[in-house]
Amino acid sequence: MAGSGTAHLRDGADPLLRVEHLVVEFPAGVGRKVHAVSDVSFDVVEGETLGLVGESGCGKSTTGRAVVQIPRPTSGSVVFDGRDLTKLHHEELRRIRPQIQMIFQDPISSLNPRRRVTDIVAEPLVVWGRGKSAEREVKVREAFEAVGLDYDSASGRRPHQFSGGQCQRISIARALMLDPKLLICDEPVSALDVSVQAQILNLLEDMKERYGLTMVFIAHDLAVVKNVSDRIAVMYLGKICEVASADDLYRSPRHPYTNALLQSIPVPDPEVPPAGENLALSGELPSPIDPPSGCRFRTRCPRAQARCAEEEPIIREIDPTHFVACHFPVMEEAGEGAGSAGGRLFGAQAGSSAADEGSAGAASDGPASEGAASAEAASAEGDSGVAVDPAAPPYSAA
Ligand SMILES: Nc1ncnc2c1ncn2[C@@H]1O[C@H](COP(=O)(O)OP(=O)(O)OP(=O)(O)O)[C@@H](O)[C@H]1O
Ligand code: SF4
Ligand SMILES: [Mg+2]
Repeated sequence: MAGSGTAHLRDGADPLLRVEHLVVEFPAGVGRKVHAVSDVSFDVVEGETLGLVGESGCGKSTTGRAVVQIPRPTSGSVVFDGRDLTKLHHEELRRIRPQIQMIFQDPISSLNPRRRVTDIVAEPLVVWGRGKSAEREVKVREAFEAVGLDYDSASGRRPHQFSGGQCQRISIARALMLDPKLLICDEPVSALDVSVQAQILNLLEDMKERYGLTMVFIAHDLAVVKNVSDRIAVMYLGKICEVASADDLYRSPRHPYTNALLQSIPVPDPEVPPAGENLALSGELPSPIDPPSGCRFRTRCPRAQARCAEEEPIIREIDPTHFVACHFPVMEEAGEGAGSAGGRLFGAQAGSSAADEGSAGAASDGPASEGAASAEAASAEGDSGVAVDPAAPPYSAA
C-alpha cells in the first residue's frame, strides 16, 4: 500500500472532520526526518465512527494527535466543523479544543495518580469555568453513572485503587464532561484483558449513541475495530492503503496488507485454515526515516512487481464504498472474504457493570463477560478465494 490520493473523500457529504494531505514529519538528526504521516486524507461524517488501523509505528497516534494539533502538522488541512484547525491561532484553537477529546491507551497512567478520581473527572469543568460547584457535582455524578461506576463509592479514591477497565471508564467520563462532538480513541482497549475490552467497546458504543458523538477509533487490531466502525481506513508506514465500510473490508479485503492483517487474526480451530489467499505478513515495518520508494508496502508484499518500486499507487475506487491504493489489488473470486467475525469481542452487554473488571472497584458485583468466547465462535465463519485484479493495468517498465 502505501498510497496517496483523495478518491475516498465524500464530496457530497458535509463531514464533521475532513483531513486532507496531512503530513507530519519529525526531525531525526542532520538532514534526516521521520516521515510519520505522509499525505493522509480521510473524512468522518457526523455520528459516524472511523476506524484507523495498522501495525505499531504506522502513524496512527501521530494522525490522531495531528487532528487536535498536538503538535501542529507539517502540512495539510484539518477541517473540523467547517474550520481549518491548522490555520487557527492559539487562542482560537484553545476555544475549539473542548469539542474534540482524546482517550488514550494506558488508562492508569493517563490519570493523575495524586488526585481523587471524582476531581479528575470534574477537572475539565473547573478549568473551563463551567457551572457552580453543586452543578459540577451533578454532572460528574451523571457521568459516573453513565460509565457504570458508583459515584459515592468512587469518591475519595485515587486511580491506583481501580482496575485498568475501571480507569478507562473514568477516562471516558472525563472526556465527556465538556460535551465534545468528536472523540478520538487511541487504542482505548489495547492494554485491557479481552473480556474487559468487550465491555469498554460496548460502553463506547453506548456513550456514542447517548451523547451523539462522532468517533475516530484507533487500533492495531482489525478484529477490535470491526464492530465499532462504520468505515475503516487501513494505514501502513504513514499512508492510507485501503478505505471501506467495516463489512466490506472484513469480507473482501482488496489490499494485500489488509488481507495479511485479517489473516493474522487467530482462529480458534487449528483444523480450519485461514481463509483467502496465503498473504501472511513477514518482515518488519521499514524505517519511516527512509521509506521504500513507490509503494511503501512493496518490501513485504507478496504481490509486488517492478512497477511497485517505481510508482506510488494512488487510492482509487473499487466500488462506491471501497477504495484501495494498490497497483495489483486482491480481488474476490467467490463467497465470503478473509474473515467474518461479526460479534467479535461483543459478548458483553452494553453499559455492563464495571464490577466485572477487577477487585478494587467502586461498583457492585456483576456477571462475568462472555465476549471473548462469542468472538472466537464467530470468527470461524467465512471463506474466500482471491486473485489478482484482472482489470489492473499491466505492468510496463518505465
Ligand atoms: N515526537 C516524535 N519524534 C520522532 N519520531 C516520532 C515522534 N512521535 C512518533 N514518532 C515516530 O513516528 C512513527 C509513527 O508513530 P506513531 O506513534 O504515530 O505510531 P502508531 O501507529 O501510533 O504506533 P503504536 O501502535 O505503537 O502506538 C514511529 O516511527 C514513531 O517512532
Ligand atoms: S502489489 Fe504493489 S502496489 Fe500493491 S501493495 Fe503490493 S507492492 Fe504495493
Ligand atoms: Mg499509537
